[in-house]
Amino acid sequence: MMWKALNDILPHKASPSPSSITIDDEVCTSVNDIANGFNKYFTGVAAKLVDSNGTICNDESVYVEDKPTGDCSNPVLDLPSISSEFICREIDLMSEKKATGLDDIGSKILKLAKPAILSSLVYIMNLSLRTGVFPDLWKEAKVVPLHKGGDMSINNFRPIAILPVYEQNMQPDTEHTEGLNTVCPEFDIPDLVRERKVNLSEVSLDEVELMLLGDRLNDVKRLVIKTNNLINQTRVSASTSFVSCDHATSIDQCGNNYYKEVLKSSRMLINDYMYTPGGIWTPKDCLPRWKVAIVIPYRDRPFHLPIIIRILTPMLKRQKLEFGFYVAEQANDLNFNRAMLMNVGFLEALNFSKWDCFIFHDVDHVPLSDYNYYGCSGMPRHFLSGADRWNYKILYANFFGAVTGLTRSQVFQINGFPNVYWGWGGEDDEIRMRVKEAKLDITRVKGPRGYYNCIEHHHHSAPKNKERFHLLQTFRQRLKIDGVNNLRYSKPKTMLNILYTNISVDIQQLTDGVSTVSN
Ligand code: BGC
Repeated sequence: MMWKALNDILPHKASPSPSSITIDDEVCTSVNDIANGFNKYFTGVAAKLVDSNGTICNDESVYVEDKPTGDCSNPVLDLPSISSEFICREIDLMSEKKATGLDDIGSKILKLAKPAILSSLVYIMNLSLRTGVFPDLWKEAKVVPLHKGGDMSINNFRPIAILPVYEQNMQPDTEHTEGLNTVCPEFDIPDLVRERKVNLSEVSLDEVELMLLGDRLNDVKRLVIKTNNLINQTRVSASTSFVSCDHATSIDQCGNNYYKEVLKSSRMLINDYMYTPGGIWTPKDCLPRWKVAIVIPYRDRPFHLPIIIRILTPMLKRQKLEFGFYVAEQANDLNFNRAMLMNVGFLEALNFSKWDCFIFHDVDHVPLSDYNYYGCSGMPRHFLSGADRWNYKILYANFFGAVTGLTRSQVFQINGFPNVYWGWGGEDDEIRMRVKEAKLDITRVKGPRGYYNCIEHHHHSAPKNKERFHLLQTFRQRLKIDGVNNLRYSKPKTMLNILYTNISVDIQQLTDGVSTVSN
């Protein structure tokens, strides 16, 4: 019993080290020779590079692009302390698949031990920030040789350095700890609207902007223009024509917070919320329990978008969440590919902030109750228990469409969403299968809390995807090769709007090894 329990929580052994490698045409098979060989090779790579290049510059300032300006005679770096809620949340969000460092302590053990060790962790981290001394053991990385391909020559390996798991995730996010001591409530939140009669009549985006921002609208407009200019400059310097999430590097690194610094300097307090261009809102009177990205797969629904933004923005504020809207827009006439847009929206949203929770939201589904909490608790989650068009029922027990949520690490865990569903239907069923296959338990909101109204359609329904039944039968074969790890798309046009961020992308069929579907 005891061994079984330990086996369950101990990290699984990584793939074995190579049994032989070739160094300078000599084959080494003894464990010692192999270890020493790697050690010498990895620690000598930099010196070799300098030799081959012939030049070395000892003046570090040459390499620093962003040199501080102004008076630097008395520089002070003021780091706020980390709250136990912050650490608690980061532990909850850790992927159980994270590789372990030298201590071999995996995130599963950390999660189980959380109640016992939390206060010590908080103490050590804050002490470290105050004193500027970082525990030596936390700096020691396990270096694993990764075979890049080709023969077993030592040149075909590269080193991966893995830090202890608690160190990997615990960089303080100073943005969210500024002087806040209370975590926003999740239950018993005042002012929630239990059942709303929603007004689904047509409204323009301009009208919604005025409704939500009132006399601050002009200030906001100016801030949005300024921030878009800054974003464009950032994008130029980071530009490649394609975006891809390279699986060989740690997939958790995809979506890399490009714009975080720009956004930090473009904020504005509006009542009790901090507003950031692109429709990002952060509560100011409490520490947000969750950072939620709402990703809306989209094409040509100008009547729906203002309505959903008008309803969701005040609802999420009442729920005291930090949130942002990312509209992933398909910029071509191919059949609509909802799941691929969700992948793009997910990765692009991560360029703006390290969002904890992702809610993938159909543009035409309007929630009727604020008690349908959009935080990450109970993820993966199906937020819909009934819709008006189905007489406030769901169509079938396994339905996982319209509004669903996963944490950031869960999305990576299931390799995101399938890219091969072009046209209506099936993709949400496959997403459910992926979640189940990863042994994640889905929760569903019960009763009127999870009711939605659908906005009337002014357009013809999208053509059905005839391949969907076949794709569903073969989903296991594609799990590991189709999703965020093979996703490739031409650089999207990203535009901060007043109430949402628009990511307009020309997605195309992917051809590398994944069965594709004719339109
Ligand atoms: C489709 C799903 C769709 C559901 C409800 C199913 O037959 O496979 O993609 O969400 O019907 O319309």
